Amino acid sequence: MTLQQLLNDRVSAALAAAGVPDAPAVLQPASKPEFGDYQANGVMGAAKKLKQNPRELAQKVIDVLDLAGIADKVEIAGPGFINIHLAPAFLGGRLDAALKDAKLGIAAPVRQKVMVEYSSPNLAKEMHVGHLRSTIIGDAIARVLEFLGHDVARANHVGDWGTQFGMLVAYLVESRQAGEADMVLSDLEDFYRKAKVRFDEDEAFADTARDYVVKLQGGDAEVRKLWAQFVEVSLEHCEAVYKKLGVSLDRDSVRGESAYNDDLPVVLSDLRTAELLVESQGAQVTFLAEFQNPEGEPMAVIIQKKDGGYLYATTDLAAVRYRHRQLGLDRVIYVVDARQSLHFQQIFTLAKKAGFAPAEMQLEHVAFGTMMGEDGKPFKTRSGGTVKLAELLDEAEERAFALVSEKNPDLPEVERRDVARAVGIGAVKYADLSKNRTSDYVFNWDSMLAFEGNTAPYLQYAYTRVQSVFRKADAVDADASIVIAEPAEKQLAVALAQFEDVLANVADTCQPHHLCTYLYHVATLFSRFYEACPILKSEGEVRASRLQLAALTAKTLKTGLGLLGIAVNDAM
Ligand code: ARG
Repeated sequence: MTLQQLLNDRVSAALAAAGVPDAPAVLQPASKPEFGDYQANGVMGAAKKLKQNPRELAQKVIDVLDLAGIADKVEIAGPGFINIHLAPAFLGGRLDAALKDAKLGIAAPVRQKVMVEYSSPNLAKEMHVGHLRSTIIGDAIARVLEFLGHDVARANHVGDWGTQFGMLVAYLVESRQAGEADMVLSDLEDFYRKAKVRFDEDEAFADTARDYVVKLQGGDAEVRKLWAQFVEVSLEHCEAVYKKLGVSLDRDSVRGESAYNDDLPVVLSDLRTAELLVESQGAQVTFLAEFQNPEGEPMAVIIQKKDGGYLYATTDLAAVRYRHRQLGLDRVIYVVDARQSLHFQQIFTLAKKAGFAPAEMQLEHVAFGTMMGEDGKPFKTRSGGTVKLAELLDEAEERAFALVSEKNPDLPEVERRDVARAVGIGAVKYADLSKNRTSDYVFNWDSMLAFEGNTAPYLQYAYTRVQSVFRKADAVDADASIVIAEPAEKQLAVALAQFEDVLANVADTCQPHHLCTYLYHVATLFSRFYEACPILKSEGEVRASRLQLAALTAKTLKTGLGLLGIAVNDAM
């Protein structure tokens, strides 16, 4: 159980015993060490409601508050805050258990079947920076949920369907005839551009392309085969990027828009049966009273166009339906750009109305802002083009290699390359994950690669510093108990004991920056502890205990960074 939950339960029980059942405990980590480790601030609100003196009520609560073996001091402060000082022995016991456990002592939650849908690029183009945020935020969320013990499915809802594929297939056929298809396909970006030029300049080509769309959607075997080849090359590109990024998406995670093609007419007829469909200007639409257009009228979601074609929304409805009926998911997390918020709110509302998903199924749009350049505009190349993700990541590694070489020229080159990979990719990921995902953020090489501050290199370096203690310590007793005595030990211990709280929070809010803030906090507290409490120069049980604290710090940093998809090295 998380510390927060444990203390919350105890304080709530005490509030009930003191005559205020259902009053929230309002428990939070103390804002300053003088206030103990946790504060319960619920008494004030409860006293106000009951018209009682808050300090007197706080005393009544404390009198019945059972924190035996957990806290060694509980006191009233200010108008009626309850300050809780955790007992060193309690903390020591929790940390000992965490150190011995592969999952750092976290308890399994009520297991949910969760899908994290992320990355989901449109396959017609190479992955560019616009795909970065979804890919790394989604991956971190999936890792955290999985680590906590949920049954996690990763989904890559790639855009592999739609009219542009007719154009691409037409161009593929044409290039094959000219004997140059494979060469052409090696640069997807270029391929797309050239296909588009042909489409725009040549009526006959455009007609052929449109013909291919019809054949493709109708299931023509030949055209499907060509399309599949195109999709294959495109997915290989994505996989190369995932590999470079260290992202846990594979071919099994891919279920693209095309997979729902046969379900689209079913969605249409289900909506019709549910009497949710009307004809409007020849199209089949649903009006949702929950959403209003600027004129104050219910908003329309188009399900089928006048020409019989289906839309992005139709596919998403089919996907929700599939995820409920075939997969039986409890929760689906869509990690997609904030600009698609309205789309998802409409889909979720409509899916529930239509019975595609039951009311209790959690459908969440995990939205994120835009990655900006120094100029405050969406990140672009110097000439204003889109930045290919593969190139951005290469640059990250190159820059990190230069830094690492400067810092540690004696490290053999292979090792420096290894470190540079972890640092470069880690820096890019951390810079993104450490920000509140809903806001835009400015992409800046210098700040993300800094070895000071809340950055990946700082944390990776902090990890190696802890490891260096073990390289110098010859005898380490792996069974020694952690005994907390000094204030700096206590503060580090409390933070280490909060790992599960933080992960639970990330799982709940899908906000990985809480984990970043936490790891930075742990690294900072370790530095203070390291300065205040000699480790190798101390002796006996004190030395053994401090080494164990250091070991758990290293384990927490490594595990935590690992959940963000960031690797560490033992030396750098
Ligand atoms: N392929 C889409 C795009 O690039 C993102 C897909 C998001 N997921 C979804 N279920 N609609 O904009």
